[in-house]
Amino acid sequence: MKVTVLGAAGGIGQALSLLLKTQLPAGSELSLYDVAPVVPGVAVDLSHIPTDVQVAGFGADDLAAALANADIVIIPAGMPRKPGMDRADLFAVNAGIIKTLAEGIVANCPKALVGIITNPVNGTVPIVAEVFKKAGTYEANRVFGVTTLDVIRSETFIAELKGLSTSDIKVPVIGGHSGTTILPLLSQVEGVEFSQAEIDALTPRIQNAGTEVVNAKAGGGSATLSMGAAAARFCMSLVKGLQGEDVIDYAYVDGNTADADFFAQPIRLGKNGIEEYLPYGELSAYEENAKNEMLATLNKDIQEGIDFMA
Ligand code: LMR
Repeated sequence: MKVTVLGAAGGIGQALSLLLKTQLPAGSELSLYDVAPVVPGVAVDLSHIPTDVQVAGFGADDLAAALANADIVIIPAGMPRKPGMDRADLFAVNAGIIKTLAEGIVANCPKALVGIITNPVNGTVPIVAEVFKKAGTYEANRVFGVTTLDVIRSETFIAELKGLSTSDIKVPVIGGHSGTTILPLLSQVEGVEFSQAEIDALTPRIQNAGTEVVNAKAGGGSATLSMGAAAARFCMSLVKGLQGEDVIDYAYVDGNTADADFFAQPIRLGKNGIEEYLPYGELSAYEENAKNEMLATLNKDIQEGIDFMA
């Protein structure tokens, strides 16, 4: 198993790489790429941790070597938000970065499973899909926007609210990864009932949790540690799928919902990435309304990615 992290020296990249060094199966290769000159040092640092995962660092000119024969590529590269910005404000700077990296993937490991963290995820995932389409190598089952942070935030906030263990809470989150496009399905959380007042408070808290971190960091960036944990969890779902395990997870994918061309939804993972698109089930009236209201924003974000490539 070879996993490549693009943007490995940044805040998310380092947290993610640390977790992968300790969680990937023995015998795996962890390939760290970044344009920041510190990346070989990050690789040496991680290499002293006693696990059977080989680590190598690759600098700005070594994208091809970093990606060669990768099974999985996770991309946290790009600029983070500052207070007062929306994720969509990052499109101008991050769209070009994600395009260049996707072209590297197409050239060096076109069969890899690709997990995209770079914001705005709603628009960067369509860019990656378009790069693959232009090369004639697009397989929708291999491209994922990582929305796991919305899931783990939901688990945490619900556990806190209800005095439960996070390990007992499973929360479906559908839609996209920005503001109102993040839709936690609280009506489907097993074993937990919510009052309307709780739903009215919890839903926007989950939707705005990224902004909560951005404001708390006061100009120092956005979520890095929780995003690293979320991305590692999703990457391990991809790894288990490749190893033949039957895994169900949530991600923002080019799927078969009638809602939008890209939509976060439940998927069954396996040796080819997505093996099956699963239905997200029945929504409450509140959720149905929230979903319908967010679709215009989500479709605009998706179109921005497609237009960028056109
Ligand atoms: C998050 O959800 O924390 C990330 O998407 C970063 C951000 O800008 O909010």
